[in-house]
Amino acid sequence: MGSRSTATSDPLTRVLRTRRELRAALADSRRPVGLVPTMGWLHEGHRSLFARARAENASSVATIFVNPRQFNEAADYTQYPRNEARDLTMCRDEGVDLVFAPSVDEVYPTGFDTIVHVGAVGRPLEGAARPGHFDGVATVVAILFGLVKADRAYFGQKDAQQVMVIRQMAGDLAIPTEVVACPTIREPDGLALSSRNVHLSSEERAAAPVIHRALMAGRAAWDRAERSADPIRSAMRSVLSEEPLAVVDYVSAADASTLAELDRLSTPALLSVAVRFGSTRLIDNELIDPS
Ligand code: PAF
Repeated sequence: MGSRSTATSDPLTRVLRTRRELRAALADSRRPVGLVPTMGWLHEGHRSLFARARAENASSVATIFVNPRQFNEAADYTQYPRNEARDLTMCRDEGVDLVFAPSVDEVYPTGFDTIVHVGAVGRPLEGAARPGHFDGVATVVAILFGLVKADRAYFGQKDAQQVMVIRQMAGDLAIPTEVVACPTIREPDGLALSSRNVHLSSEERAAAPVIHRALMAGRAAWDRAERSADPIRSAMRSVLSEEPLAVVDYVSAADASTLAELDRLSTPALLSVAVRFGSTRLIDNELIDPS
């Protein structure tokens, strides 16, 4: 574990680089503590998480760490957008108390040899499309939960399966941090905010709202009293097929608590899609609650 002292002072926001600095700063923090783990390249979705963490807790902590272990393609990791100065400005604007922005070696020191693997809920959808991805997510979030010992941690519902994996991990490992899912923030045309949107060309950006239109078509089928899952999936696929730049990875109508694909929508269901536009892969979802 590194021991360089690089904590920078700011009247409102302190930036910590090492586990030791983080622990020391947390010892002086008022409880409850709200945590927002991020990989940086912050956008309005993150801003809403910071605002909620601040509103519901006496202290707020953000983490900025592009986690190499959750990328299953090396190029995806190296090309992931980064701009720490800009990210820190947003954290300061939002009054985040502590920002933990460690190096890779600080998170995974020499000798680190543990993988947190979540079972069934991590297997379909993103788990199938991106082998090892959720092991990386669960491992880094377990480390962050262990370090921060937050009362609550805030994640975007856009990554619905990620939220389920993290909840399962925290419950199974008896980590008392409450996992809070927050609403997806969207552009006016419906595109869910994502750090990956920056990679879209202007043509791809113009095409990408088809994702939300497809999910809305699924919901509209439900609203018309369609209860069979296949026609609901077909309604989503049909909208996506109208967009030549959209290459569909999956279209799903699954049980919202197990992610098992449904025949009929009688339990809360998660409609979700993953679509590629060129080299950029985007995901989004819509929750259907029969009650
Ligand atoms: O959603 C993200 O940004 C990441 O997966 C997370 C939760 C910060 C773990 O690296």
